[in-house]
Amino acid sequence: MSKQPIGIFDSGVGGTSIWKEIHSLMPSENTIYLADSINAPYGPKGKQAIIDLSIKNTEYLLEKDCKLIVVACNTATTNAIDYLRANYNIPFIGIEPAIKPAALQTKTNAIGILATKGTLSSELFSKTSNLFASDVNVVEQIGNGIVELIESGKLYSDEMKSLLKVYLKPMIDANIDYLVLGCTHYPYLIPILLELLPKHVKIIDSGEAVARQTKAVLEKHDLSNSLMTKPNSRFFTNGNPEIMTSLLGDKFTVNYLDF
Ligand code: SIN
Repeated sequence: MSKQPIGIFDSGVGGTSIWKEIHSLMPSENTIYLADSINAPYGPKGKQAIIDLSIKNTEYLLEKDCKLIVVACNTATTNAIDYLRANYNIPFIGIEPAIKPAALQTKTNAIGILATKGTLSSELFSKTSNLFASDVNVVEQIGNGIVELIESGKLYSDEMKSLLKVYLKPMIDANIDYLVLGCTHYPYLIPILLELLPKHVKIIDSGEAVARQTKAVLEKHDLSNSLMTKPNSRFFTNGNPEIMTSLLGDKFTVNYLDF
């Protein structure tokens, strides 16, 4: 049993989609969420830069006594989680695009994946794709500009809609029936995607699976907080706190952190 917080970091506000799943599955766990918005997006950066930023985020969360860290960013997971696991002595949970369930369930033999350049060009992604989707037409699309729009508070904007129309066209033309969201910012796009995609296309993201995995790892290491006290959910960003508040709701306080 441990009352220590779960640490969660992302390149920005997108990982709050993962925090929501964790909080909903394990409501008694204390959490600290760190958004490195000033350095978002991580997607176009090189591997070493992503590792360096992930180290900085990890060190901050360790100073706050976190018992486990969720790397709530696909790009940081695919590029840096091996380094983190090899160099720090606590469990790390990563996020991988849910390509396997989509490839197993497709009826049209075509699936779409929307992710950052850093994720799509990573070794981990090509390994997963080759392993589970080698017989499936995988239409890959880099989501250039999407994270920037979300980070600047333009989620529901005409600009976002126009960008998504362009990105979805090759997928719709290929008759995909599953769209995999390979970035933790993207679940916030679901209402817009549902408007733009044909009705038969199902959208898959990794949030619930990550929360279940986090719970299983805490239990395995005897680190769960079983006390049913009100949890302490703390949020920090080096960007604009109002943007995160707009995604979380007014119930939670988001603090500015100069780091
Ligand atoms: C980014 O920072 O480019 C997106 C974060 C992600 O890949 O989940």
